[in-house]
Amino acid sequence: MPILEELMGYFFIVGHRGAKGLEPENTLKSIRRALELDVDAVEVDVRVSKDDYPVVIHDETVDRTTNGEGSVAEMSLEELRKLDAGMGEKIPLFEEVLREVHGKAVLFVEFKVPEAVDPVLEKVDELNAWKSVLFISFHQEHLLKVKKYKEDAYIGLIYSKPSDGIVLAKKIGAIAVLPQYRLATEKAVAFAKRLKLMVVPWVVNDLETGRRLKSYGVSGLATDRPDLLIKLRDVV
Ligand code: G3P
Ligand code: CA
Repeated sequence: MPILEELMGYFFIVGHRGAKGLEPENTLKSIRRALELDVDAVEVDVRVSKDDYPVVIHDETVDRTTNGEGSVAEMSLEELRKLDAGMGEKIPLFEEVLREVHGKAVLFVEFKVPEAVDPVLEKVDELNAWKSVLFISFHQEHLLKVKKYKEDAYIGLIYSKPSDGIVLAKKIGAIAVLPQYRLATEKAVAFAKRLKLMVVPWVVNDLETGRRLKSYGVSGLATDRPDLLIKLRDVV
């Protein structure tokens, strides 16, 4: 069973929103495609419905990725599940995604809202999947909430602006930093590694950038195109 610690020993590939470049993002179809392409980890975004169900969707509203309109937080699960999230796919429940990925790959769960933290952690606990999940967020408060629930849960801090993200990640007990890929300079990667942090830049969809970042010593890369980037994993 893949556990996060196993990823620490080699360069790995994370399917971003499943395989966003190939299938409708954050759907089971997208996740299955990423798994078929042999990714080491799958990344998804989590929000909550009006009736408190954790669901996998990126935006605050359903407008961009489904045939509906409105705010995710103001729609019930029943309303959300009626929508087409692309190619007839439904917006998945977090639980469905966890069950799909568990035992096949590591799951990177991004909290888009703080309300998603507790219901997600309950599901991870039910499956005792702690060792296979990395909880990630742009917001340290969401990650601290995870640590409060379970002290040895794995957390990773995402950042997209020049900041003290690396230092902050270390301070809150993260094992990983996830910089927007332009911020993953050779110097930044070396600094994070000196602090024993994994470095997983996002979103890298071309081999040239991927090769360059790999040469800096990044731990892995998040990509919409695992079909392309997977080639980098096995070359020395
Ligand atoms: O893995 C980090 C990345 O997913 C953050 O950006 O906007 O795709 O959620 P976003
Ligand atoms: Ca994300």
